[in-house]
Amino acid sequence: MDRELNGAMRSVSINSNGTAQLNGHSRDETDRVGGVPGGVVTATAAAAAASQTTTKCSSTANANATAATNAAIALEANLFAAASASEKKKMVHELCQQLLLTDEQVQELCYRILHELRRGLAKDTHPKANVKCFVTYVQDLPNGNERGKFLALDLGGTNFRVLLIHLQENNDFQMESRIYAIPQHIMIGSGTQLFDHIAECLSNFMAEHNVYQERLPLGFTFSFPLRQLGLTKGLLETWTKGFNCAGVVNEDVVQLLKDAIARRGDVQIDVCAILNDTTGTLMSCAWKNHNCKIGLIVGTGANACYMERVEEAELFDVEADNKKPHVLINTEWGAFGDNGALDFVRTEFDRDIDVHSINPGKQTFEKMISGMYMGELVRLVLVKMTHAGILFNGQDSEVLNTRGLFFTKYVSEIEADEPGTFTNCRLVLEELGLTNATDGDCANVRYICECVSKRAAHLVSAGIATLINKMDEPHVTVGVDGSVYRFHPKFHNLMVEKISKLIKPGITFDLMLSEDGSGRGAALVAAVACREDMLSPKK
Ligand code: GLC
Repeated sequence: MDRELNGAMRSVSINSNGTAQLNGHSRDETDRVGGVPGGVVTATAAAAAASQTTTKCSSTANANATAATNAAIALEANLFAAASASEKKKMVHELCQQLLLTDEQVQELCYRILHELRRGLAKDTHPKANVKCFVTYVQDLPNGNERGKFLALDLGGTNFRVLLIHLQENNDFQMESRIYAIPQHIMIGSGTQLFDHIAECLSNFMAEHNVYQERLPLGFTFSFPLRQLGLTKGLLETWTKGFNCAGVVNEDVVQLLKDAIARRGDVQIDVCAILNDTTGTLMSCAWKNHNCKIGLIVGTGANACYMERVEEAELFDVEADNKKPHVLINTEWGAFGDNGALDFVRTEFDRDIDVHSINPGKQTFEKMISGMYMGELVRLVLVKMTHAGILFNGQDSEVLNTRGLFFTKYVSEIEADEPGTFTNCRLVLEELGLTNATDGDCANVRYICECVSKRAAHLVSAGIATLINKMDEPHVTVGVDGSVYRFHPKFHNLMVEKISKLIKPGITFDLMLSEDGSGRGAALVAAVACREDMLSPKK
């Protein structure tokens, strides 16, 4: 999990029943920043023509408008620098129009996501589907009676963690954990190096926590697309989120872990389950709230899992005596759009992110949403507007011009400023070496952040609403984790508002902040697996 990615001030709080709540920002404020003035930029005739086109908002109109606006900007950069504050504001709003999704576009996204989910679930279309809908083999949610001591490994966010979890009575648990860095050379090195590093961290952790001699059950949260063949067997489909270790794709990662542990020969463990972080999130929420049927991560990556009827999951090889009605599906929806299904809403900034990424053409949806890319998206918009003279009087800085140096936590920090104040915004701009910002610049920077984060929240909402409508149950709780959801001051409210508009009448839902899904969830999946083992020892 990646909560350390985004150390911004958080205004998410958890109430007694574990539901996330937002402090501070009111809905009025959200509405205020969302509105885009319909007026026309008056600085130049060319820009005026461009802005009239952008307000149409269809995909072709968007593309044309972007081209026209680019041309106008290139020609008129000096004039823009001299424009008044209110003219600059209008230009920023016009340029950001392409980042705002209309209700029709969001609805269209829901149809397309549903179509892709179906393709992933069905046997004949699955091989070519982008949204793979992997079967997780998890069929049982925790019943609250899980007990015992478990180890967990959590790989796939910003940090790698090892945890020791003691599940106790009355939904109580104790947890000790330690974060270990995964150096960049290991993230893109060989698989053997990666798994040796994991085994070494595990061994050190067990020694430090006096469980070196014990043989404990272990849950492995491995947050990458995994073609699971059982609860303890899964082949890596492809790396995501900046990892690219050689020799792991199409290999069973549980076996790679076991091999690395055997190579050391100093500790012993029982791998009881391998799971995705979305699964862990769902399980950790379901331990307390049995309505939790969807797990969502909006962190370094973006993904969701949900409880599906067994008949729908055509790739699930059910044993004859297995009469359980549901199975958990890891959608891996981050890959939605890899076939062009998102092109009607993608912008020049999205294409820029993609071509400069470690995995061009892949994880298109994720790249428009998650924490690994959100800051960079904002940076690209800022650079464009600065070079056009609309921001900072045309004066850029080395940091602003450097890829990856506008951190996603800045977006949360800037949006956490009280309306009309720019304290955090100025601190961030100073870190970027931009010291001559006017209040108008700050307001514009904030608006750009709002457009990027709001679009992300609306894209996630389209996905969640599609799952809720597909499940068609009267009430669904969505367990959520990830740095963007946790730390962005408005993400939760934006999602609640949008999902409410998209779900079928009569269905209700709530979003529940997960308490360490990747750690405790891994222990719970392992515990449920052990429970099952005890019930049917032959498995
Ligand atoms: C990426 C991974 C996925 C994970 C998500 C959130 O999309 O492919 O498995 O759940 O990130 O961490």
